[in-house]
Amino acid sequence: MLTDFVLLGLWASLATAHGTVSGVVADGVYYTGYSLNFQYMNPIPTTAGWSIPKDQSLGPLTPDQFSSPDINCHVSATPGQTSVAIKAGGQLELQWTPWPESHKGPVMDYLANCNGPCETVDKTTLQWFKIDGVGLIDNSVQNGKWASDVMIANNNSWTVTIPADIAQGNYVIRHETIALHEAGSQNGAQAYPQCVNLAISGSGTAKPDGVVGTALYKATDPGILINIYTTLSTYPVPGPTPYSGAVSLSQTAPPAPTASATGVPAL
Ligand SMILES: *[C@@H]1O[C@H](CO)[C@@H](O)[C@H](O)[C@H]1NC(C)=O
Repeated sequence: MLTDFVLLGLWASLATAHGTVSGVVADGVYYTGYSLNFQYMNPIPTTAGWSIPKDQSLGPLTPDQFSSPDINCHVSATPGQTSVAIKAGGQLELQWTPWPESHKGPVMDYLANCNGPCETVDKTTLQWFKIDGVGLIDNSVQNGKWASDVMIANNNSWTVTIPADIAQGNYVIRHETIALHEAGSQNGAQAYPQCVNLAISGSGTAKPDGVVGTALYKATDPGILINIYTTLSTYPVPGPTPYSGAVSLSQTAPPAPTASATGVPAL
């Protein structure tokens, strides 16, 4: 009974919520991401998606939290306990729960090498390098056509290419949408970072430089403090310049996965 009651409360809060990455598809294979429901299960499912049980409202991080370790992988995040297998050069599709159309903004992806198993990594040591960043796509439509609109149009999903030249290893992907509908006032932007462990195989050697999560953004960055309800000629995607090996992919409707897996051990 108590469990039913808790779940009811949870569903009520989901009705007004924003989103999380519920699953990923790596080279055609589906892996579960994270769901708030997991904390009420026994045993709690083992997933490559990082756990964020305190994100009860599926809510955002605001610029006053950009200097908190929470900015790495969302509020009180703890590492996923398995990994998604993918080859360098492969494509990873990130599936969001239905994203609200009003939450317009950029979509970005970062990687950080765990230099060991990601299952036990200290998130404050992760050095993120950007592998993808798309913001305003068309300023001629009302309020603009944004990366978030493309994500919604493609089954609430976004596909990113893992750079082909990076060294084999265990990495965390930090996938993020920043909603700008209230970003015209200080502290109004809403960041939704989501993390998943990847076991990346390949023969590349590149070890791109990155920055720690707390160095990614500032509250006054021009892509963070911005009124999107004017005609913008350009939009500066927040955060560091993308890695030279980053691939700009044109998003298309993703094919259905051909298999599913729970996860693979760290490399
Ligand atoms: C669309 O997304 C849902 C999950 O959000 C997933 O179950 C479904 O397989 C996806 N459809 C395709 C064609 O990938």
